[in-house]
Amino acid sequence: MIIEPKVRGFICMTAHPEGCKENVARQISYIKKLGKTEGPKRVLIIGASTGYGLATRIAATYGCDASTIGIMYEKPANDRRTATPGWYNTKAFEEFATADGYYAKTINGDAFSKEIKEQTIELIKSSMGKVDMVVYSLAAPRRTMPDGTIYNSVLKTVGGNFTNKSLNLNNNTITEATIGPATEEEIQATIKVMGGDDWKDWITELDAAGVLEEKAVTIAYSYIGPKLTYPVYYHGTIGLAKEHLYNTSVEITQEFSSRGIKAYICVNKALVTQASSAIPVVPLYFAILYKVMKEHGLHEGCIEQMGRLFHDKLTPVGAIVDEMNRIRLDDYEMQDHIQHKVMELWDQINTENVNELADLTGYWEDFYHMFGFRYENIDYSKDVDI
Ligand code: NAI
Repeated sequence: MIIEPKVRGFICMTAHPEGCKENVARQISYIKKLGKTEGPKRVLIIGASTGYGLATRIAATYGCDASTIGIMYEKPANDRRTATPGWYNTKAFEEFATADGYYAKTINGDAFSKEIKEQTIELIKSSMGKVDMVVYSLAAPRRTMPDGTIYNSVLKTVGGNFTNKSLNLNNNTITEATIGPATEEEIQATIKVMGGDDWKDWITELDAAGVLEEKAVTIAYSYIGPKLTYPVYYHGTIGLAKEHLYNTSVEITQEFSSRGIKAYICVNKALVTQASSAIPVVPLYFAILYKVMKEHGLHEGCIEQMGRLFHDKLTPVGAIVDEMNRIRLDDYEMQDHIQHKVMELWDQINTENVNELADLTGYWEDFYHMFGFRYENIDYSKDVDI
């Protein structure tokens, strides 16, 4: 089959297996160049197939020589459609890692479910015995509870309408977007999906099954961002879920203190991923941020961020944290001079100057790369087996 990108707004309906493999290969090559660092040896990554979770898996494997088990929720190909990018990424990663002598196995299914937790525990028992690190990198639109209740997460404000500039992803024009407030029910549902409940369930069940190493570290990813996006992010429904996630990190560390388990929130940089492109207003901020950070030589992708996590932020004597015990990988993004410049450009940006003031090329390059497209060394006119 010859595969072409079919983009609909913030999603691409197709993925290219060779391109996804190239994406993984480039990330591995980056970590190999960075060299080895001391770190975890047996890592469980929940949400391991794309974005930050995939980069974590690659950095742990090739940076710390870790064995990994990944959990993902991805679709294989069928007669009519390609697999999802995460499926191809994971196939490629497992092939590379296995060829390089690393243990890497993946479970494809709903991480919220009891069955997947049980399967994971069995796999840990039969393969590595115990894990010394658990990374929670889920970005999910919904959560199905054991009784069948479904909670859907929403990206809305809390309180009133929020109107601001927004990038129309269909034609690269600058428009205005208004995001309305969530109902109390929607807020609670978002917290159920993207808060810390399920993270804590994982840690509790892993520990009860005896597969969590003493002094294991567990990390969940979060985002804060600039005041500009507070109404839709930090103070919005997703922000409340992230606050719950943070509170859960405190709870886990307290409740498992006798076992020496430490839970951290790691605040990452804003980056184009499948999850983040869906948030209104935010993609325009990304495109301006990319421009400014690249000009200052500070731009990073998921893999550079995760390389820095293992090399600079997680040390043998503990994690480097801020006053709230959070690991900050958004430290470059939040520097005053970077934010100042972004805000200056934000005020000036319009459809006429968007290409000058924002890095639309970089935004779209990252977007297409996520689905395995637009790699200059891949021949997209060739038939591929999906
Ligand atoms: P992503 O969409 O690239 O990755 C999500 C992962 O979760 C995939 O591996 C997917 O298969 C898995 N997943 C989704 N639902 C699942 C389910 N029910 N069961 C099992 N696996 C499931 O997202 P991204 O951006 O890497 O997000 C990961 C975390 O990083 C999220 O908590 C997000 O809020 C956080 N983060 C993202 C930032 C960004 O700008 N992209 C910035 C800071 C934090």
